[in-house]
Amino acid sequence: MQQTQSSGLGHGRRLVLFPVPLQGHINPMLQLANILHSKAGFSITVIHTKFNSPNQSKYPHFKFQPIPDGLLENEASTTDALSLLTVLNVNCVAPFRDCLAGLLSNVSEEPIACLITDAIWHFTQAVAHSLELPRIVLRTSSVASFLAFAAFPLLRKNGYLPKQDSQLAAPVPELPPLRVKDIPTIGADIPGELDDLIEGMIKETKASSGLIWNSFTELEQPALATLQQDFGIPVFLIGPFHKYFPASSSSLLTQDQSSISWLDKQAPKSVIYVSFGSIAAMDETEFLEMAWGLANSMQPFLWVVRTGIIRGSEWIEPLPKGFMEAVGERGHIVKWAPQQDVLMHPATGGFWTHNGWNSTLESICEGVPMICSPCFGDQMVNARYVSHVWRVGVQLENGPERGEVEKAIRRLMVEKEGEEMRERIMCMKESVNLCLKQGGSSYQSLESLISYSVIILIILFSHLWTRLRSP
Ligand code: UDX
Repeated sequence: MQQTQSSGLGHGRRLVLFPVPLQGHINPMLQLANILHSKAGFSITVIHTKFNSPNQSKYPHFKFQPIPDGLLENEASTTDALSLLTVLNVNCVAPFRDCLAGLLSNVSEEPIACLITDAIWHFTQAVAHSLELPRIVLRTSSVASFLAFAAFPLLRKNGYLPKQDSQLAAPVPELPPLRVKDIPTIGADIPGELDDLIEGMIKETKASSGLIWNSFTELEQPALATLQQDFGIPVFLIGPFHKYFPASSSSLLTQDQSSISWLDKQAPKSVIYVSFGSIAAMDETEFLEMAWGLANSMQPFLWVVRTGIIRGSEWIEPLPKGFMEAVGERGHIVKWAPQQDVLMHPATGGFWTHNGWNSTLESICEGVPMICSPCFGDQMVNARYVSHVWRVGVQLENGPERGEVEKAIRRLMVEKEGEEMRERIMCMKESVNLCLKQGGSSYQSLESLISYSVIILIILFSHLWTRLRSP
Protein backbone atom coordinates (compact mmCIF):
# COMPACT_ATOMS: atom_id res chain seq x y z
CA MET A 1 0.00 0.00 0.00
CA GLN A 2 1.35 3.45 -0.91
CA GLN A 3 1.95 5.88 1.94
CA THR A 4 0.68 9.27 0.84
CA GLN A 5 -0.16 11.90 3.44
CA SER A 6 -3.75 12.99 4.03
CA SER A 7 -4.07 16.50 2.60
CA GLY A 8 -6.96 17.19 4.98
CA LEU A 9 -8.58 19.28 2.23
CA GLY A 10 -11.75 17.25 2.42
CA HIS A 11 -12.28 17.68 6.18
CA GLY A 12 -15.75 18.96 6.96
CA ARG A 13 -17.00 17.94 3.51
CA ARG A 14 -18.93 14.91 2.35
CA LEU A 15 -18.88 12.88 -0.85
CA VAL A 16 -21.86 10.79 -1.92
CA LEU A 17 -20.98 7.71 -3.98
CA PHE A 18 -23.28 5.35 -5.87
CA PRO A 19 -21.74 2.08 -7.15
CA VAL A 20 -23.27 -0.19 -9.81
CA PRO A 21 -24.14 -3.39 -7.89
CA LEU A 22 -21.82 -5.82 -9.70
CA GLN A 23 -18.54 -7.11 -8.23
CA GLY A 24 -16.30 -5.57 -10.90
CA HIS A 25 -17.90 -2.15 -10.23
CA ILE A 26 -18.37 -2.32 -6.43
CA ASN A 27 -14.68 -3.07 -5.84
CA PRO A 28 -13.26 0.05 -7.55
CA MET A 29 -16.00 2.38 -6.17
CA LEU A 30 -15.38 1.34 -2.57
CA GLN A 31 -11.62 1.48 -3.10
CA LEU A 32 -12.08 5.03 -4.41
CA ALA A 33 -14.18 5.91 -1.35
CA ASN A 34 -11.39 4.63 0.91
CA ILE A 35 -8.77 6.60 -1.04
CA LEU A 36 -10.68 9.89 -0.83
CA HIS A 37 -11.52 9.35 2.85
CA SER A 38 -8.00 8.48 3.94
CA LYS A 39 -5.98 10.77 1.67
CA ALA A 40 -8.18 13.87 1.88
CA GLY A 41 -10.39 13.40 4.94
CA PHE A 42 -13.75 13.49 3.11
CA SER A 43 -16.69 11.93 4.94
CA ILE A 44 -18.34 9.27 2.81
CA THR A 45 -21.96 8.28 2.21
CA VAL A 46 -22.60 5.31 -0.08
CA ILE A 47 -26.06 5.06 -1.68
CA HIS A 48 -26.63 1.47 -2.77
CA THR A 49 -29.31 -0.80 -4.19
CA LYS A 50 -30.72 -3.59 -2.03
CA PHE A 51 -29.51 -6.01 -4.71
CA ASN A 52 -25.85 -7.00 -4.06
CA SER A 53 -25.57 -4.51 -1.21
CA PRO A 54 -22.02 -4.04 0.14
CA ASN A 55 -20.98 -5.57 3.45
CA GLN A 56 -21.29 -2.50 5.71
CA SER A 57 -19.49 -4.09 8.64
CA LYS A 58 -16.23 -3.84 6.62
CA TYR A 59 -16.69 -0.04 6.37
CA PRO A 60 -17.54 1.29 9.85
CA HIS A 61 -16.15 4.71 8.82
CA PHE A 62 -18.77 5.19 6.03
CA LYS A 63 -22.53 5.85 6.10
CA PHE A 64 -24.74 3.64 3.93
CA GLN A 65 -28.14 4.55 2.45
CA PRO A 66 -30.06 1.67 0.84
CA ILE A 67 -32.61 2.45 -1.89
CA PRO A 68 -35.27 0.08 -3.27
CA ASP A 69 -34.30 -1.20 -6.74
CA GLY A 70 -37.65 -2.73 -7.71
CA LEU A 71 -36.00 -5.86 -9.16
CA LEU A 72 -38.21 -8.89 -9.66
CA GLU A 73 -36.67 -12.21 -8.67
CA ASN A 74 -35.95 -13.21 -12.29
CA GLU A 75 -34.42 -9.79 -13.08
CA ALA A 76 -31.85 -10.10 -10.32
CA SER A 77 -29.89 -12.62 -12.43
CA THR A 78 -26.37 -11.30 -13.11
CA THR A 79 -25.89 -13.60 -16.13
CA ASP A 80 -27.74 -11.01 -18.22
CA ALA A 81 -25.92 -7.94 -16.98
CA LEU A 82 -27.13 -5.77 -19.87
CA SER A 83 -30.83 -6.21 -19.11
CA LEU A 84 -30.16 -5.86 -15.40
CA LEU A 85 -28.39 -2.52 -15.87
CA THR A 86 -31.09 -1.27 -18.23
CA VAL A 87 -33.85 -2.07 -15.73
CA LEU A 88 -31.91 -0.55 -12.81
CA ASN A 89 -31.35 2.70 -14.73
CA VAL A 90 -35.14 3.05 -14.87
CA ASN A 91 -36.17 1.62 -11.49
CA CYS A 92 -33.69 3.62 -9.42
CA VAL A 93 -34.53 7.13 -10.70
CA ALA A 94 -37.19 8.11 -8.14
CA PRO A 95 -35.70 6.35 -5.07
CA PHE A 96 -32.26 7.76 -5.87
CA ARG A 97 -33.60 11.30 -6.29
CA ASP A 98 -35.53 11.09 -3.00
CA CYS A 99 -32.52 9.73 -1.16
CA LEU A 100 -30.12 12.35 -2.53
CA ALA A 101 -32.57 15.20 -1.87
CA GLY A 102 -32.91 13.94 1.72
CA LEU A 103 -29.13 13.93 2.17
CA LEU A 104 -28.84 17.45 0.76
CA SER A 105 -31.50 18.82 3.07
CA ASN A 106 -29.91 17.32 6.18
CA VAL A 107 -28.20 20.38 7.67
CA SER A 108 -26.79 18.45 10.63
CA GLU A 109 -24.22 16.80 8.32
CA GLU A 110 -21.21 18.18 6.44
CA PRO A 111 -22.02 19.93 3.13
CA ILE A 112 -21.89 17.59 0.14
CA ALA A 113 -19.00 18.51 -2.18
CA CYS A 114 -20.19 16.37 -5.06
CA LEU A 115 -21.78 13.13 -6.18
CA ILE A 116 -19.58 10.36 -7.64
CA THR A 117 -21.41 7.69 -9.64
CA ASP A 118 -20.47 4.87 -11.97
CA ALA A 119 -20.61 5.95 -15.66
CA ILE A 120 -23.26 3.27 -16.22
CA TRP A 121 -25.68 5.17 -13.92
CA HIS A 122 -26.45 7.64 -16.69
CA PHE A 123 -29.78 8.78 -15.13
CA THR A 124 -27.90 10.28 -12.16
CA GLN A 125 -26.65 13.23 -14.24
CA ALA A 126 -30.20 14.62 -14.67
CA VAL A 127 -30.95 14.03 -10.99
CA ALA A 128 -27.74 15.78 -9.89
CA HIS A 129 -28.44 18.65 -12.28
CA SER A 130 -31.99 19.09 -10.95
CA LEU A 131 -30.63 19.25 -7.39
CA GLU A 132 -27.80 21.60 -8.45
CA LEU A 133 -25.13 19.18 -7.28
CA PRO A 134 -21.98 18.56 -9.37
CA ARG A 135 -21.55 14.96 -10.51
CA ILE A 136 -18.17 13.33 -11.14
CA VAL A 137 -18.15 10.03 -13.01
CA LEU A 138 -16.12 6.92 -12.18
CA ARG A 139 -15.49 4.71 -15.18
CA THR A 140 -14.30 1.31 -14.00
CA SER A 141 -12.88 0.10 -17.36
CA SER A 142 -9.85 1.09 -19.46
CA VAL A 143 -9.85 4.37 -21.37
CA ALA A 144 -9.32 2.48 -24.65
CA SER A 145 -12.45 0.34 -24.21
CA PHE A 146 -14.52 3.40 -23.27
CA LEU A 147 -13.47 5.05 -26.54
CA ALA A 148 -14.51 1.90 -28.40
CA PHE A 149 -17.98 2.18 -26.81
CA ALA A 150 -18.07 5.89 -27.68
CA ALA A 151 -17.37 4.96 -31.32
CA PHE A 152 -20.41 2.63 -31.56
CA PRO A 153 -22.58 4.94 -33.72
CA LEU A 154 -19.68 5.38 -36.17
CA LEU A 155 -18.95 1.64 -36.21
CA ARG A 156 -22.61 0.87 -36.94
CA LYS A 157 -22.71 3.53 -39.66
CA ASN A 158 -19.53 2.14 -41.26
CA GLY A 159 -21.00 -1.37 -41.39
CA TYR A 160 -18.87 -3.22 -38.81
CA LEU A 161 -21.93 -4.13 -36.72
CA PRO A 162 -23.58 -6.55 -36.37
CA LYS A 163 -20.36 -8.55 -36.78
CA GLN A 164 -20.21 -10.86 -39.81
CA ASP A 165 -18.36 -14.17 -39.29
CA SER A 166 -16.32 -13.62 -42.47
CA GLN A 167 -15.10 -10.22 -41.22
CA LEU A 168 -14.06 -11.06 -37.65
CA ALA A 169 -10.32 -10.91 -38.31
CA ALA A 170 -10.50 -7.71 -40.38
CA PRO A 171 -8.86 -4.62 -38.87
CA VAL A 172 -10.95 -1.60 -37.80
CA PRO A 173 -8.88 1.35 -39.08
CA GLU A 174 -11.06 3.78 -37.10
CA LEU A 175 -9.88 2.14 -33.83
CA PRO A 176 -6.41 0.60 -34.20
CA PRO A 177 -5.31 -2.01 -33.08
CA LEU A 178 -8.84 -3.48 -32.84
CA ARG A 179 -10.21 -6.04 -35.26
CA VAL A 180 -13.93 -6.49 -35.88
CA LYS A 181 -14.02 -9.34 -33.33
CA ASP A 182 -12.59 -6.99 -30.64
CA ILE A 183 -15.43 -4.44 -30.87
CA PRO A 184 -16.97 -4.61 -27.36
CA THR A 185 -20.38 -6.11 -28.12
CA ILE A 186 -22.43 -8.10 -25.64
CA GLY A 187 -24.26 -11.33 -26.53
CA ALA A 188 -26.02 -11.44 -29.88
CA ASP A 189 -25.55 -7.66 -30.44
CA ILE A 190 -29.11 -6.90 -31.41
CA PRO A 191 -29.18 -3.10 -31.91
CA GLY A 192 -31.22 -1.54 -29.14
CA GLU A 193 -30.58 -2.20 -25.46
CA LEU A 194 -26.76 -1.99 -25.66
CA ASP A 195 -26.77 1.08 -27.94
CA ASP A 196 -29.21 2.86 -25.61
CA LEU A 197 -27.11 2.11 -22.54
CA ILE A 198 -23.92 3.23 -24.29
CA GLU A 199 -25.55 6.38 -25.66
CA GLY A 200 -26.76 7.32 -22.18
CA MET A 201 -23.38 6.58 -20.63
CA ILE A 202 -21.42 8.66 -23.17
CA LYS A 203 -23.83 11.61 -23.32
CA GLU A 204 -24.17 11.95 -19.54
CA THR A 205 -20.45 11.48 -18.96
CA LYS A 206 -19.80 14.41 -21.32
CA ALA A 207 -22.32 16.46 -19.31
CA SER A 208 -20.63 15.64 -15.99
CA SER A 209 -18.11 17.75 -14.07
CA GLY A 210 -15.21 15.29 -14.37
CA LEU A 211 -14.14 11.73 -15.02
CA ILE A 212 -12.12 9.42 -12.74
CA TRP A 213 -10.35 6.28 -14.01
CA ASN A 214 -8.98 3.20 -12.34
CA SER A 215 -6.01 3.31 -14.70
CA PHE A 216 -2.72 5.18 -15.01
CA THR A 217 -1.34 7.58 -17.59
CA GLU A 218 1.73 5.58 -18.65
CA LEU A 219 -0.49 2.64 -19.61
CA GLU A 220 -2.94 4.53 -21.81
CA GLN A 221 -1.23 7.63 -23.18
CA PRO A 222 -2.63 7.62 -26.76
CA ALA A 223 -6.19 6.78 -25.64
CA LEU A 224 -5.99 9.43 -22.95
CA ALA A 225 -5.02 12.10 -25.50
CA THR A 226 -8.07 11.19 -27.62
CA LEU A 227 -10.33 11.20 -24.57
CA GLN A 228 -9.21 14.65 -23.50
CA GLN A 229 -9.79 15.98 -26.99
CA ASP A 230 -13.23 14.38 -27.46
CA PHE A 231 -14.74 14.85 -24.00
CA GLY A 232 -13.53 18.27 -22.87
CA ILE A 233 -14.05 17.65 -19.14
CA PRO A 234 -11.39 17.27 -16.41
CA VAL A 235 -9.97 13.73 -16.40
CA PHE A 236 -8.23 12.04 -13.45
CA LEU A 237 -6.31 8.77 -13.89
CA ILE A 238 -5.50 7.85 -10.30
CA GLY A 239 -5.25 4.03 -10.41
CA PRO A 240 -4.57 1.28 -9.85
CA PHE A 241 -6.93 1.67 -6.89
CA HIS A 242 -6.25 -1.70 -5.30
CA LYS A 243 -2.64 -0.73 -4.70
CA TYR A 244 -3.97 1.71 -2.07
CA PHE A 245 -6.61 -0.66 -0.64
CA PRO A 246 -7.14 -4.37 -1.43
CA ALA A 247 -10.58 -5.39 -2.72
CA SER A 248 -11.11 -8.29 -0.32
CA SER A 249 -13.39 -6.22 1.95
CA SER A 250 -15.85 -5.58 -0.89
CA SER A 251 -15.98 -9.20 -2.07
CA LEU A 252 -19.59 -10.35 -2.37
CA LEU A 253 -18.55 -14.00 -2.14
CA THR A 254 -16.44 -15.78 0.48
CA GLN A 255 -12.85 -16.12 -0.66
CA ASP A 256 -11.56 -19.68 -0.19
CA GLN A 257 -8.26 -19.39 1.70
CA SER A 258 -7.29 -22.97 0.82
CA SER A 259 -6.11 -21.36 -2.44
CA ILE A 260 -3.16 -19.88 -0.55
CA SER A 261 -2.26 -22.98 1.49
CA TRP A 262 -2.33 -25.01 -1.75
CA LEU A 263 -0.12 -22.42 -3.52
CA ASP A 264 2.33 -22.57 -0.61
CA LYS A 265 3.11 -26.16 -1.65
CA GLN A 266 3.91 -25.33 -5.30
CA ALA A 267 7.20 -24.40 -6.96
CA PRO A 268 7.90 -20.70 -7.77
CA LYS A 269 6.14 -19.39 -10.90
CA SER A 270 4.82 -22.87 -11.73
CA VAL A 271 1.03 -22.35 -11.28
CA ILE A 272 -1.47 -21.19 -13.87
CA TYR A 273 -4.31 -19.39 -12.08
CA VAL A 274 -7.67 -19.54 -13.90
CA SER A 275 -10.61 -17.23 -13.22
CA PHE A 276 -13.27 -15.60 -15.39
CA GLY A 277 -14.55 -12.99 -12.92
CA SER A 278 -18.00 -12.55 -11.47
CA ILE A 279 -20.38 -12.48 -14.48
CA ALA A 280 -19.05 -14.53 -17.42
CA ALA A 281 -20.71 -17.91 -18.02
CA MET A 282 -19.84 -20.86 -20.28
CA ASP A 283 -21.46 -24.00 -21.60
CA GLU A 284 -20.53 -27.53 -20.61
CA THR A 285 -18.45 -28.22 -23.74
CA GLU A 286 -16.27 -25.16 -23.13
CA PHE A 287 -15.84 -26.13 -19.49
CA LEU A 288 -14.71 -29.66 -20.42
CA GLU A 289 -12.26 -28.35 -23.05
CA MET A 290 -10.78 -26.08 -20.37
CA ALA A 291 -10.52 -29.00 -17.94
CA TRP A 292 -8.75 -31.29 -20.42
CA GLY A 293 -6.45 -28.51 -21.62
CA LEU A 294 -5.40 -27.83 -18.05
CA ALA A 295 -4.99 -31.53 -17.24
CA ASN A 296 -2.98 -32.27 -20.39
CA SER A 297 -0.68 -29.26 -19.90
CA MET A 298 0.91 -31.06 -16.92
CA GLN A 299 1.27 -27.63 -15.27
CA PRO A 300 -0.15 -27.10 -11.73
CA PHE A 301 -3.38 -25.10 -11.81
CA LEU A 302 -5.62 -23.20 -9.40
CA TRP A 303 -9.07 -22.88 -10.96
CA VAL A 304 -11.95 -20.67 -9.81
CA VAL A 305 -15.22 -22.29 -10.88
CA ARG A 306 -17.94 -19.97 -9.60
CA THR A 307 -21.23 -21.57 -8.56
CA GLY A 308 -23.46 -21.38 -11.65
CA ILE A 309 -20.70 -20.39 -14.12
CA ILE A 310 -21.49 -23.50 -16.22
CA ARG A 311 -24.91 -23.01 -17.80
CA GLY A 312 -27.30 -25.71 -16.62
CA SER A 313 -25.03 -26.99 -13.82
CA GLU A 314 -24.79 -26.24 -10.15
CA TRP A 315 -20.98 -26.53 -9.94
CA ILE A 316 -18.38 -29.00 -11.33
CA GLU A 317 -20.69 -32.02 -11.86
CA PRO A 318 -19.89 -32.16 -15.62
CA LEU A 319 -16.28 -33.21 -14.85
CA PRO A 320 -15.89 -36.86 -15.84
CA LYS A 321 -15.61 -39.38 -12.98
CA GLY A 322 -12.01 -39.81 -11.90
CA PHE A 323 -10.84 -36.47 -13.40
CA MET A 324 -9.79 -34.93 -10.10
CA GLU A 325 -8.20 -38.18 -8.95
CA ALA A 326 -6.19 -38.31 -12.18
CA VAL A 327 -5.03 -34.71 -11.78
CA GLY A 328 -4.33 -35.28 -8.08
CA GLU A 329 -2.45 -32.62 -6.12
CA ARG A 330 -1.55 -30.84 -9.38
CA GLY A 331 -4.96 -29.17 -9.56
CA HIS A 332 -7.04 -27.23 -7.03
CA ILE A 333 -10.58 -26.01 -7.74
CA VAL A 334 -12.35 -23.40 -5.59
CA LYS A 335 -15.61 -21.43 -5.91
CA TRP A 336 -14.02 -18.01 -5.28
CA ALA A 337 -10.43 -17.08 -4.45
CA PRO A 338 -8.62 -14.21 -2.73
CA GLN A 339 -7.53 -13.14 -6.22
CA GLN A 340 -5.10 -10.36 -5.35
CA ASP A 341 -3.27 -12.59 -2.84
CA VAL A 342 -3.17 -15.37 -5.43
CA LEU A 343 -1.63 -13.08 -8.06
CA MET A 344 0.89 -11.82 -5.50
CA HIS A 345 1.92 -15.34 -4.50
CA PRO A 346 5.43 -16.42 -5.64
CA ALA A 347 4.06 -19.75 -6.98
CA THR A 348 1.73 -18.01 -9.49
CA GLY A 349 3.35 -17.87 -12.93
CA GLY A 350 0.43 -17.14 -15.27
CA PHE A 351 -3.20 -15.99 -15.25
CA TRP A 352 -5.79 -17.43 -17.63
CA THR A 353 -8.36 -14.65 -17.49
CA HIS A 354 -11.50 -13.26 -19.14
CA ASN A 355 -9.73 -9.86 -19.02
CA GLY A 356 -12.23 -7.97 -16.90
CA TRP A 357 -10.52 -4.64 -16.29
CA ASN A 358 -9.93 -5.30 -12.57
CA SER A 359 -8.37 -8.69 -13.27
CA THR A 360 -6.21 -7.25 -16.06
CA LEU A 361 -4.92 -4.43 -13.84
CA GLU A 362 -4.36 -6.76 -10.89
CA SER A 363 -2.27 -9.05 -13.11
CA ILE A 364 -0.20 -6.13 -14.44
CA CYS A 365 0.40 -4.88 -10.89
CA GLU A 366 1.84 -8.25 -9.85
CA GLY A 367 3.83 -8.87 -13.04
CA VAL A 368 1.86 -12.00 -14.03
CA PRO A 369 1.55 -12.64 -17.81
CA MET A 370 -1.86 -13.71 -19.14
CA ILE A 371 -3.76 -16.12 -21.36
CA CYS A 372 -6.71 -14.10 -22.67
CA SER A 373 -10.23 -15.52 -23.14
CA PRO A 374 -12.45 -12.42 -23.34
CA CYS A 375 -16.18 -13.15 -23.07
CA PHE A 376 -17.99 -9.86 -23.76
CA GLY A 377 -17.86 -6.06 -23.69
CA ASP A 378 -14.69 -4.26 -22.62
CA GLN A 379 -12.92 -7.59 -22.03
CA MET A 380 -12.42 -7.94 -25.82
CA VAL A 381 -10.60 -4.61 -26.02
CA ASN A 382 -8.53 -5.36 -22.91
CA ALA A 383 -7.44 -8.72 -24.36
CA ARG A 384 -6.32 -7.08 -27.60
CA TYR A 385 -4.21 -4.56 -25.67
CA VAL A 386 -2.71 -7.29 -23.46
CA SER A 387 -1.72 -9.49 -26.40
CA HIS A 388 -0.89 -6.94 -29.13
CA VAL A 389 -0.05 -3.57 -27.57
CA TRP A 390 1.59 -4.38 -24.24
CA ARG A 391 2.51 -7.89 -25.47
CA VAL A 392 2.20 -9.50 -22.05
CA GLY A 393 -0.19 -12.31 -22.93
CA VAL A 394 -1.47 -14.71 -25.58
CA GLN A 395 -5.06 -14.72 -26.76
CA LEU A 396 -7.02 -17.94 -27.32
CA GLU A 397 -8.60 -16.83 -30.57
CA ASN A 398 -11.18 -19.57 -31.07
CA GLY A 399 -12.52 -20.27 -27.61
CA PRO A 400 -11.13 -22.98 -25.35
CA GLU A 401 -10.13 -26.06 -27.35
CA ARG A 402 -8.01 -28.53 -25.36
CA GLY A 403 -5.08 -28.66 -27.81
CA GLU A 404 -4.97 -24.85 -28.09
CA VAL A 405 -5.22 -24.46 -24.32
CA GLU A 406 -2.30 -26.83 -23.80
CA LYS A 407 -0.24 -24.95 -26.41
CA ALA A 408 -1.03 -21.53 -24.89
CA ILE A 409 -0.08 -22.73 -21.40
CA ARG A 410 3.23 -24.03 -22.74
CA ARG A 411 3.92 -20.76 -24.60
CA LEU A 412 3.26 -18.75 -21.45
CA MET A 413 4.78 -20.93 -18.73
CA VAL A 414 7.62 -22.79 -20.42
CA GLU A 415 8.79 -21.22 -23.68
CA LYS A 416 11.07 -18.25 -24.29
CA GLU A 417 8.17 -16.21 -25.61
CA GLY A 418 6.55 -16.44 -22.15
CA GLU A 419 9.80 -15.41 -20.50
CA GLU A 420 9.87 -12.28 -22.68
CA MET A 421 6.27 -11.48 -21.76
CA ARG A 422 7.18 -11.85 -18.10
CA GLU A 423 10.04 -9.37 -18.53
CA ARG A 424 7.74 -6.86 -20.21
CA ILE A 425 5.04 -7.17 -17.56
CA MET A 426 7.64 -6.79 -14.80
CA CYS A 427 8.55 -3.41 -16.39
CA MET A 428 4.85 -2.47 -16.30
CA LYS A 429 4.72 -3.49 -12.63
CA GLU A 430 7.62 -1.12 -12.01
CA SER A 431 5.83 1.74 -13.77
CA VAL A 432 2.79 1.11 -11.51
CA ASN A 433 5.01 1.54 -8.46
CA LEU A 434 6.44 4.79 -9.86
CA CYS A 435 3.09 6.34 -10.83
CA LEU A 436 1.80 5.98 -7.26
CA LYS A 437 4.87 7.50 -5.60
CA GLN A 438 5.10 11.21 -4.73
CA GLY A 439 5.44 13.12 -8.02
CA GLY A 440 4.16 10.13 -10.05
CA SER A 441 1.30 10.55 -12.53
CA SER A 442 -1.47 8.93 -10.41
CA TYR A 443 -0.24 10.64 -7.25
CA GLN A 444 -0.45 14.04 -8.94
CA SER A 445 -3.78 13.27 -10.53
CA LEU A 446 -5.21 12.31 -7.13
CA GLU A 447 -4.01 15.61 -5.66
CA SER A 448 -5.69 17.48 -8.54
CA LEU A 449 -8.92 15.53 -8.00
CA ILE A 450 -9.00 16.35 -4.29
CA SER A 451 -8.43 20.07 -4.94
CA TYR A 452 -11.02 20.01 -7.71
CA SER A 453 -13.67 18.39 -5.47
CA VAL A 454 -13.16 21.16 -2.94
CA ILE A 455 -13.15 23.94 -5.56
CA ILE A 456 -16.43 22.84 -7.14
CA LEU A 457 -18.06 22.96 -3.71
CA ILE A 458 -16.81 26.54 -3.24
CA ILE A 459 -18.12 27.50 -6.70
CA LEU A 460 -21.44 25.85 -5.86
CA PHE A 461 -21.76 27.84 -2.64
CA SER A 462 -20.81 31.12 -4.30
CA HIS A 463 -23.52 30.53 -6.95
CA LEU A 464 -26.10 29.83 -4.26
CA TRP A 465 -24.96 32.86 -2.29
CA THR A 466 -25.25 35.12 -5.36
CA ARG A 467 -28.73 33.75 -6.08
CA LEU A 468 -29.91 34.27 -2.50
CA ARG A 469 -28.68 37.87 -2.50
CA SER A 470 -30.15 38.80 -5.86
CA PRO A 471 -33.63 40.35 -5.62
C1 UDX B 1 -17.19 -6.80 -14.83
C2 UDX B 1 -16.84 -6.94 -16.31
O1 UDX B 1 -16.92 -8.27 -16.73
C3 UDX B 1 -15.50 -6.33 -16.59
O2 UDX B 1 -15.15 -6.55 -17.92
C4 UDX B 1 -15.56 -4.88 -16.27
O3 UDX B 1 -14.32 -4.28 -16.57
C5 UDX B 1 -15.93 -4.70 -14.81
O4 UDX B 1 -17.14 -5.39 -14.53
P1 UDX B 1 -15.95 -8.98 -13.73
O5 UDX B 1 -16.36 -9.81 -14.88
O6 UDX B 1 -16.36 -9.45 -12.41
O7 UDX B 1 -16.35 -7.44 -13.90
O8 UDX B 1 -14.34 -8.95 -13.80
P2 UDX B 1 -13.23 -8.05 -13.16
O9 UDX B 1 -13.29 -6.65 -13.66
O10 UDX B 1 -11.96 -8.74 -13.43
O11 UDX B 1 -13.53 -8.01 -11.60
C6 UDX B 1 -13.53 -9.15 -10.80
C7 UDX B 1 -13.09 -8.77 -9.39
O12 UDX B 1 -13.40 -9.87 -8.56
C8 UDX B 1 -11.61 -8.52 -9.29
O13 UDX B 1 -11.35 -7.41 -8.45
C9 UDX B 1 -11.07 -9.79 -8.66
O14 UDX B 1 -9.94 -9.61 -7.83
C10 UDX B 1 -12.23 -10.28 -7.85
N1 UDX B 1 -12.22 -11.76 -7.77
C11 UDX B 1 -12.36 -12.52 -8.89
C12 UDX B 1 -12.05 -12.34 -6.54
O15 UDX B 1 -11.89 -11.66 -5.51
N2 UDX B 1 -12.02 -13.70 -6.47
C13 UDX B 1 -12.16 -14.51 -7.56
O16 UDX B 1 -12.14 -15.74 -7.39
C14 UDX B 1 -12.34 -13.90 -8.82
